[in-house]
Amino acid sequence: MKTCVFNQGLFFFVCFFFSSAGHIPSSVGVILRTTDKIVWANEFEPIELTCLIESISTNNPRIEWKKIKNGVPSYVYFQNKIAGDLEHRAQLREPANILIFNTTRSDTAEYRCEVAAIDDQRDFDEILISLAVRVKPVVPRCSVPDAVTVGTSTELRCLENEGFPAPQYRWFHNNEELPQDPKNSPKFANSSFSINPDTGGLKFRRVRKEDAGEYYCQAKNDAGHAQCLPQSMEVYDVDILGIFLKVCAVVAAFLVLTICTYQGCKRACTPKKGHAENK
Ligand SMILES: *[C@@H]1O[C@H](CO)[C@@H](O)[C@H](O)[C@H]1NC(C)=O
Ligand SMILES: *[C@@H]1O[C@H](CO)[C@@H](O)[C@H](O)[C@H]1NC(C)=O
Repeated sequence: MKTCVFNQGLFFFVCFFFSSAGHIPSSVGVILRTTDKIVWANEFEPIELTCLIESISTNNPRIEWKKIKNGVPSYVYFQNKIAGDLEHRAQLREPANILIFNTTRSDTAEYRCEVAAIDDQRDFDEILISLAVRVKPVVPRCSVPDAVTVGTSTELRCLENEGFPAPQYRWFHNNEELPQDPKNSPKFANSSFSINPDTGGLKFRRVRKEDAGEYYCQAKNDAGHAQCLPQSMEVYDVDILGIFLKVCAVVAAFLVLTICTYQGCKRACTPKKGHAENK
C-alpha cells in the first residue's frame, strides 16, 4: 500500500489493479450462470433449477422466474413470492435458485430466471433452463391371442401411454426374455418372430408348436418399468376351426342328401298312387 501512496499515475493504477485482482470488475454488470441448462427429474422427486449470479453490484436485485409452456409464459416467482403453477410447491434458494419439492409431469417446461440490477451498468440478464420430468410407465395393455394354428402368422401387441420418455418394450415367453431378433440367438434360431421395441409388437411369421406358452410384456424407461400379467397362447397342430367347418359341411351335405332322397322317394311313390286311383 505504501508504494501506492508513494507513487502516482501509472503506479497507482497498477496498485488498484492488484488490489482488485481475482475479482470480476463490478462495472460489467449482472451475469447469470446455471449448472445445467437441460435438467431431467423423476416425477415425485425434488429438483433444483440453478440460477447463479456470477457478478452483480446491486444490493437487492429484482429476481423473477417464468415458466414457458407451449410458448406461453407465466410467472412462477414474482414480487418475491412463488406464484402460479409452483405456488406452495417450491421455494427460492440463494442466490436465485428455485427448488421444486415434488415434481409432477406437468412441470415439464422451460423456465427462465431473470435478474434486474438497476445499479449495474449492464442491468439485466436471463437464463433459460429446460426441465423434463420422467414418468414411470404404468401396466401396459397386452393382447395375446388365445389360440393360433401352426404355420400361420400372428402378432402380439403391447401398449403403454403414460411413461415419459416413451418406453421401450420387451417380451417374455415362459418367463424368459425373447431376443429382438432370434437370428442372433442359437436358442431361438428356428423361430420366426421379430420384436419392435418402439411399438411393442411381437410378430410371428410362422407359428411353431414351440411358440405356445405364457407371454407377457414389459414397458421400461429411465424412470422405471411395468409389465402385464402373463397370458397363454395355445398352438394347434391342425386347424381345429377348419376341421369343425369341414365336419359341418359333411353333416349338412349328408342331411341334404337324406332329405332329397326321402322327398324324391315320396314324390316317386305318391303320384303313382294317385295316378292309379285316378285310373
Ligand atoms: C408427491 O406428490 C404425490 C402426488 O401428489 C404424492 O403421492 C407423494 O406422496 C408426494 N411425495 C412427497 C415426497 O411428498
Ligand atoms: C433348428 O432346426 C434345425 C433343423 O431342423 C435343428 O437341427 C436344430 O436342432 C433346431 N434348433 C433348435 C434350437 O431347435
